[in-house]
Amino acid sequence: MWGGRFAEGPAAVMREINASIPFDKRLWREDVAASKAHVAMLGAVGIVSADNAAAIATGLDAVAGDYAAHGVADDLALEDIHMQTEARLAEKIGAVAGRLHTARSRNDQVATDFRLWVRRAIDDVDASLGAFQDALIARAADHADSVMPGFTHLQSAQPVTLGHHLMAYHEMIARDRSRFADARVRLNQCPLGSAALAGTGFPIDRTMTAAALGFDAPTGNSLDAVSDRDFALDYLMAATQASLHLSRLAEEFILWASQPFGFVSLSDQWSTGSSIMPQKRNPDAAELVRGHAGRIAGCMTALVITMKGLPLAYSKDMQDDKPPVFEAHDLLGLSITAMAGMVASATFRTGRMREAAELGYATATDLADWLVRVADIPFREAHHITGRAVRLAEERGIALDQLPLADLQAIDARIDARVYDVLSVDASVAVRASFGGTAPVRVREAIAVARAARQKEMQ
Ligand code: ARG
Repeated sequence: MWGGRFAEGPAAVMREINASIPFDKRLWREDVAASKAHVAMLGAVGIVSADNAAAIATGLDAVAGDYAAHGVADDLALEDIHMQTEARLAEKIGAVAGRLHTARSRNDQVATDFRLWVRRAIDDVDASLGAFQDALIARAADHADSVMPGFTHLQSAQPVTLGHHLMAYHEMIARDRSRFADARVRLNQCPLGSAALAGTGFPIDRTMTAAALGFDAPTGNSLDAVSDRDFALDYLMAATQASLHLSRLAEEFILWASQPFGFVSLSDQWSTGSSIMPQKRNPDAAELVRGHAGRIAGCMTALVITMKGLPLAYSKDMQDDKPPVFEAHDLLGLSITAMAGMVASATFRTGRMREAAELGYATATDLADWLVRVADIPFREAHHITGRAVRLAEERGIALDQLPLADLQAIDARIDARVYDVLSVDASVAVRASFGGTAPVRVREAIAVARAARQKEMQ
């Protein structure tokens, strides 16, 4: 492409270090689409003749057909997807192919292609996160009343419902989706026409190409347009945050599926066996979701560090922007689909969860609150009395509401039979009906709101 200036060809390793085709061939659809938009504009404003523009457009379709049928060859001599497409076009239509690169540069080309690719990636992620929300909502509805221990410090704290717990993740995913949506808004300006760095002297119509590619507007500064990759970082940061949420649920499933917990049994579809221990059912998929979060964060860090301190405008370092984005996108897609599948097909052991909530003395706060409310005892003292009741129940290996009244009264004479109304785990969750609380009535409301929001999106 630059044979005019160079007498010798590149060293073999130069060719290898320089080439991006092994990975940027993933941009082929976007590269063809942007070239088609560009040549249509060149034809419309008369920079190339209508005949030439039409020949180039037809040729680009043919190249795209070849790519779709046979893939893109790893031809290192052609360096990247942009040079590859132009070379393939020349094979099809001859010298007129050389007119396509008028009034553009690979710098605005790659910035445009990559924005288009990330935009589609965002749309894909949004759709799969939406499907994941549907799975959470459906299982939360199954278990709006199922009591389980809620934890702080991974110690039984207060009973909650499984539906409430699952809907917590629904909230996180909603925020993840809004982060991706924000990133999409900022991304959606078209760099094409910024050329190498300074714009071009040709009378191009940037609004036309921007509109043809579905962008809201052309970018406002050519230096910025070819040299920033904040749109890719926005994507990676949103992906990192989403993967953190997925990894927390993955961790809970791993823990819950262990025998001492026994809260969940993952379906065969999402478990693996052991080659040596026949009794094993391992939560490998959940473990990999947990692991992938680390790799996704690594991809984000890689691009942060690539971009740090780069002077304006384009530098070749920026070619390294694509592998981490592609990798993170693949890992995130797998993680979301796997988590959605695990949630949809898991069997929750509600009996075991209830037992753990009861034997974890998770209603101790309810006893203390009752002593304050009904017996008018200062909270600090109520806390102490409750502690003694918990110790007694623990010694006998029974739940709080299994302690006979006489024993409770021996601890404090002000306790009467009404206390049993608040000691059950069901009473404990039912009373927490503050907005956003774990009471089944609130959980059902939250589910209804979430369902309505999904229905509105689907219209
Ligand atoms: N393959 C390059 C990249 O991905 C395209 C831009 C090359 N521009 C240049 N001035 N060498 O960044």
